[in-house]
Amino acid sequence: MSYKDKLFASALECRLKAYAPYSKFAVGAAVLCNREIYVGCNVENVSYPCGNCAESGAISAMVANGGRKIEEILIVADTDNIVPCGNCLQKIAEFGNAETLVHSADLSGNIRTYTLSQLLPHNFNAKEVKNA
Ligand code: THU
Repeated sequence: MSYKDKLFASALECRLKAYAPYSKFAVGAAVLCNREIYVGCNVENVSYPCGNCAESGAISAMVANGGRKIEEILIVADTDNIVPCGNCLQKIAEFGNAETLVHSADLSGNIRTYTLSQLLPHNFNAKEVKNA
């Protein structure tokens, strides 16, 4: 099984645990880092802006386990071309680079692959704030 297939299976399984009572839009995400896979699902809140995206959960799980590099990330939802929101693209940029692969899957396993730079050609860069 390729890493892409493993990421899909992991994200699809985690999506089933999504807490999305308000939008009813369940999302799963899986990150590859050092041959390990970390997963996340969206977790909404009655105070809507408090909700977290699936990508955010997967990235937090990676970091909490000592990971610091997103090699690939896959997100899956019941739609044909989900791409991470702007906020999550910036989070992916923190631990990825221009070539980081961002896979977008539907529930049937149709996958489109982008590089991060295709989705976020320019991102806020921390150079200016390193000494803050
Ligand atoms: N959502 C994600 O988890 N990831 C995305 O890439 C886009 C949107 C979630 C946030 C919210 O819980 C629901 O999908 C509807 O916006």
